[in-house]
Amino acid sequence: MPVTPPIPASRPEGMHRWARWRAFRRDMFASQPQRLYRAKMAQMTTPFYRSFTVPDPTLARKILEDAEGFPKSDVLAATLGDLLGRSVFVTNGAEWARARAMIDPAFSGGRVREMLPQMVGAGQRMLAELHPGVIEVEAVTARATADVILRVLFSRPIDDAQAQEIFGVFQEYQRAQPLASLADLLRLPAWVPRRRRGRKEAYALRALVADLIAQRQGDEVDLLARLIDARDGDDGTGFSESELVDQAVMFLLAGHETSASALSWALYCLALSPEDQDRAAAEVAACAPTEFKQMPFLRDVWREVLRLYPPVPMLPRQAAQATTLRERAVSRGDPVIISPWHSGRHEREWDRPHEFDPSRWAQGATTQGWFPFSAGPRICPGAGFATAEGIILLAMILREWRLQVVPNDIPQPVAHLTVRSAAGIRIAFHRRATQH
Ligand code: HEM
Repeated sequence: MPVTPPIPASRPEGMHRWARWRAFRRDMFASQPQRLYRAKMAQMTTPFYRSFTVPDPTLARKILEDAEGFPKSDVLAATLGDLLGRSVFVTNGAEWARARAMIDPAFSGGRVREMLPQMVGAGQRMLAELHPGVIEVEAVTARATADVILRVLFSRPIDDAQAQEIFGVFQEYQRAQPLASLADLLRLPAWVPRRRRGRKEAYALRALVADLIAQRQGDEVDLLARLIDARDGDDGTGFSESELVDQAVMFLLAGHETSASALSWALYCLALSPEDQDRAAAEVAACAPTEFKQMPFLRDVWREVLRLYPPVPMLPRQAAQATTLRERAVSRGDPVIISPWHSGRHEREWDRPHEFDPSRWAQGATTQGWFPFSAGPRICPGAGFATAEGIILLAMILREWRLQVVPNDIPQPVAHLTVRSAAGIRIAFHRRATQH
């Protein structure tokens, strides 16, 4: 029987501009009105800026396809720049295109298959952490996905001393939560001093990654080796040392928080829906966790979780030129926010939009409003990787554990860098009767 997992509270209609601004700083969801689940486009005005949010899937996809007309917002580079430098996540134009073309081959289907053993290795380490009783799963999934990316990127499991140090500083950085600073949103000149949260941690993390790169022997077979070998198709140049640090740190961020968020919500949705959980558990009991073709239902569970809880809930873009969107004038530089969160639950697009019902996919659910990995030229290159990782880790848990919600302990989604729960996600773990 389909269930309805938690939805964040939207902001009340008529909220004052200042209150909206404060809400935006605290949690992006709290500043978004309920009507975004029905509207095609909405305008938000705060004391400092005006922005447009586009929940309509067709228009959203059109904007994402037009990466020149609607590049990534420079607020993003300003907010995450201390950590990510000039990595592919924050740049635009020719600089982005060169780096993206050099990175893409590392994520082809064959390359992702080579990474499966590291995912299974991290899964085994994660299983050793689990025990009967109530477990806070956000911490477990954060360690598991950090372990995957550290193994894949640097050939270092999370228990290695240097990898552990990187993970520790990374968590401190996330706790500092560098949401957009006021100066950046106001577009004050670069010389105006800003209070940069997370700067100290970002620099420490970059120094640790630079050290790891400097210690390489040259015979490693991992993602970093592929980045070192990557060449520009036009002039044959590779990434410079500082570009390598930028891209490597970006992979740590892009490849860890997001997957951890999706996995945590997947575990919660499965705990909430025993029928779906049993069906998925029966499927994974019959095969190895890397035999994806044998697990079509678990794949639909993954799709449905990403529809309801897209880890990157909103994608900030800005208009490169003055233009019009749905007959509204948009000025050059105006923020335009694409929302996988609202498109994935849009009432014009989905039947029973807030229900968790993985079987809708086998019944041919429409996919126009499903773009948790974005769309167009800037689509997530790690989508295949993340899907393999998510399914492997879920399968490994479901083979051994039965999950149950804890009564009256309902996680509240909040939008920080990714969709997290305001106070963790606790789930009761029971050993399955049959071990595999
Ligand atoms: C469930 C897990 C994941 C989700 C939902 C996800 C989602 C996304 C989204 C929505 C974007 C686009 C952001 C924007 O356009 O503003 C993105 C970009 C990116 N992701 Fe992922 N991601 C996931 C996992 C990963 C993994 C595992 C990797 C790498 C190992 C990765 C690497 C990247 C990179 C490099 C970009 C920047 C691409 C560009 O701007 O050209 N992601 N991701």
